[in-house]
Amino acid sequence: MRHLALTVNGQRTELDVEPRQLLVYALREQLGLTGTNVGCDTSSCGACTVLLDGESVKSCTVLAVQADGHEVTTIEGLAEGGELHPLQQAFREHHALQCGYCTPGMIMAAVSLLADHPDPSEADIRTGLEGNLCRCTGYHNIVKAVQAAATAGR
Ligand code: FES
Ligand code: FES
Repeated sequence: MRHLALTVNGQRTELDVEPRQLLVYALREQLGLTGTNVGCDTSSCGACTVLLDGESVKSCTVLAVQADGHEVTTIEGLAEGGELHPLQQAFREHHALQCGYCTPGMIMAAVSLLADHPDPSEADIRTGLEGNLCRCTGYHNIVKAVQAAATAGR
């Protein structure tokens, strides 16, 4: 077992993990943060996307021990004071989800995208989110939602 101390959604968190434990399972099973989904377990779908020190990562390809001493943000950490994050609000308003399975990962990837590109073109959004698969929406409304959140943030 390894003892880890990290910051998760702004809170200092300590936990013991097997060295082979993946970050996504530490979040879901040990910390109860089940908003982060597992779609493929093979780094293909992006459902497990979280932020590690502000950068989006697929948490099924990160070992929990790699997060030791770092800052992790999950979908549960985005809303503040009962207010949805602008991207969550935009996904809601633009019907950017159907089953919702991809949505937490899609939103976390979009948070990282907008941090790097506050005024993205449609092509920037499609390229920035190409590691996140959605089986339902056809992506059109996801792109619209990200554009709307970018506009709102200007
Ligand atoms: S579960 Fe991590 S990329 Fe699919
Ligand atoms: S909304 Fe169903 S997979 Fe994206």
